[in-house]
Amino acid sequence: MKIIVTGAAGFIGSYVCRALIWRGDDVVGIDNFNDYYPRKCKEFNLGLTYMASGMNDSHYGGEEMREVFKKIFTYYPGSISEKKGSFKFYEKDIVNSEDIKEIFSEEKPDAVIHLAAMAGVPYSVQNPRLYTQVNVDGTVNLLYSCKENMVNKFVFGSSSSVYGNREDRKVTEEDDVTKAVSPYGATKVAGEVICHSFSSVYGISIIINRIFGPIYGPLQRTYGMFMQRAINYTYNDKEISIYGAKGLDSAKDSTYIDDQVDGILKCLDYETKYDVFNIGTSDPQKIRLWIEEIEKSMNKKVKYKVTESDRGDVSSSADISKAKKVLKYSPRMKLPEGVRRQVEIFNLMPEWYKTLREV
Ligand SMILES: NC(=O)c1ccc[n+]([C@@H]2O[C@H](COP(=O)([O-])OP(=O)(O)OC[C@H]3O[C@@H](n4cnc5c(N)ncnc54)[C@H](O)[C@@H]3O)[C@@H](O)[C@H]2O)c1
Repeated sequence: MKIIVTGAAGFIGSYVCRALIWRGDDVVGIDNFNDYYPRKCKEFNLGLTYMASGMNDSHYGGEEMREVFKKIFTYYPGSISEKKGSFKFYEKDIVNSEDIKEIFSEEKPDAVIHLAAMAGVPYSVQNPRLYTQVNVDGTVNLLYSCKENMVNKFVFGSSSSVYGNREDRKVTEEDDVTKAVSPYGATKVAGEVICHSFSSVYGISIIINRIFGPIYGPLQRTYGMFMQRAINYTYNDKEISIYGAKGLDSAKDSTYIDDQVDGILKCLDYETKYDVFNIGTSDPQKIRLWIEEIEKSMNKKVKYKVTESDRGDVSSSADISKAKKVLKYSPRMKLPEGVRRQVEIFNLMPEWYKTLREV
């Protein structure tokens, strides 16, 4: 299959590209390298993907990354020697409908995995218009190009934020999603509703993946993620702020990157007209435990202070029984090993990465 992956230079998107290439799909990546976090980090992700496809494009990532690349590939034994698909990349903005039209008519994809977005809650509170442009208008552009080019499969990377603040119990796909508490969550709700309308009117097969983050693992998005920030701050002897009224006892339904990628690929392969799945671990871990694991892996104390909650930040945990039953999705990574790998790769990264200021 030929698959367009949007957000291909981002954290989750780049892992998805590599997993598709390793199973033999031809991947067309789109990303505009927005400045939410440094371009250099995204070029690194892209370099890794080029390497996975057998094309050693040192333009992305550069020679300084070779050792890190090799180490990361050891987590995927067998993948390198298996038959590979191809990789092609467009540096384009999904908000530009003409560019998106051109890519679709040139590439004629069989499916789209849509992960490009303005991600993150606090930034959306300050920049709601940007979030609607990218997350809503950008999604419409892609769906419209699917309709025009008879692309019959679309996976939408949604978010647990659509549920708003539901700490009382695990949320199911049947729960109300009209009470988002951040502009980010609201744009994901809007994206889902637009997907549903395109599926109804044009018959496109659309699967909504409500991603339960933070997604963590090596090369985790370098901005706005607690774990990456804690590792960076600890390396640089800085104190980290822990948000939320429950302090060290607040818990997040974090998912290891490989489990999330597995969920996304299972959504892609699932044949139906329209459906929605929670993809997470359903096993929220307290911040206290994350800190303990980081300290073990870094062999250093994490300095922190507890402060009040971010506006719009939510805690919810996923009921994943539907994904387990229908998709045969089953998350496997345990937090200690996931953290160990994230720290291991962090330690191998060049100094510019370890000392990034805005994390
Ligand atoms: N990481 C998480 O914990 C998490 C949790 C829930 C949902 N999600 C969703 O998963 C998806 C991927 O998240 P991520 O953590 O990999 O974030 P990321 O920021 O690393 O990746 C998103 C990518 O999209 C690109 N992008 C943004 N605007 C674009 C535009 N207008 N045109 C083209 N490309 C554009 C960015 O440059 C970036 O590389 C997003 O849709 C996000 O909302 C992530």
